[in-house]
Amino acid sequence: MEKLYEGKAKILYSTDNPEELLTHFKDDATAFNAQKRGTILEKGKMNCQITVALFQWLESKGILTHLIQQIAEEQILVKRVQIIPIEVVVRNIAAGSLCRQTGLREGDKLPHSLVEFYFKNDELGDPLLTRDRLLILELATEEQLKELQTLALEINQHLQQFFASCQITLVDFKLEFGIDSHGKILLADEISPDTCRLWDQSEQDPEKRVMDKDRFRRDLGQVENAYQQVHKRVIDKLSSLK
Ligand code: TMP
Repeated sequence: MEKLYEGKAKILYSTDNPEELLTHFKDDATAFNAQKRGTILEKGKMNCQITVALFQWLESKGILTHLIQQIAEEQILVKRVQIIPIEVVVRNIAAGSLCRQTGLREGDKLPHSLVEFYFKNDELGDPLLTRDRLLILELATEEQLKELQTLALEINQHLQQFFASCQITLVDFKLEFGIDSHGKILLADEISPDTCRLWDQSEQDPEKRVMDKDRFRRDLGQVENAYQQVHKRVIDKLSSLK
């Protein structure tokens, strides 16, 4: 196996099959474009299993993903895709950069779900893109953009419903998509507490309710515990549905 790429939270390896890659989920955690670094114990394992569970759930709803199968506790086999260099963020409730940039207050419910496109570019700090900038940069075609928007909203519906059944509010999340060898758009990357804001519905306290990477970003403590809670609720819910 050859290491093809090492990112902040995952490593990508080649396999014997040129159409397939292996993703290894790391325990490393970063925030603020890697200015803050740390380790979240067993994060790789938990994020891998949460991603597999959610991708399988989405597949069962007709969403195409790059997932082939889980092959170890923190490793999955995926279809080789060309990643579209756009981070697609969906927001249901105001938090994070939306609050910082607009003055909305954390916890404000948005009148409708918001889909935003960010340039996946660490050197530039992943800036928010306008539709026109995105087209000028040729990051996607107009048709692909429409498809990404539709897919993101559809995925949001399914995930909101799933997390609600785990007594978790899906505040916002980030998706990445890739194009396979047939030109199809597939959901790629991961969906985990690293890439979502998840609030515990049984907690009203704005700090206690946080079950995601904001605990690490904002030094709220109990980081591992939050990831374990999400992991347990997601896995328990899926096994009860089988
Ligand atoms: P933001 O409020 O910081 O823009 O984040 C929106 C969502 O995207 C949040 O659920 C966390 C996720 N996210 C990532 O997955 N990767 C990133 O690099 C950033 C900045 C956010």
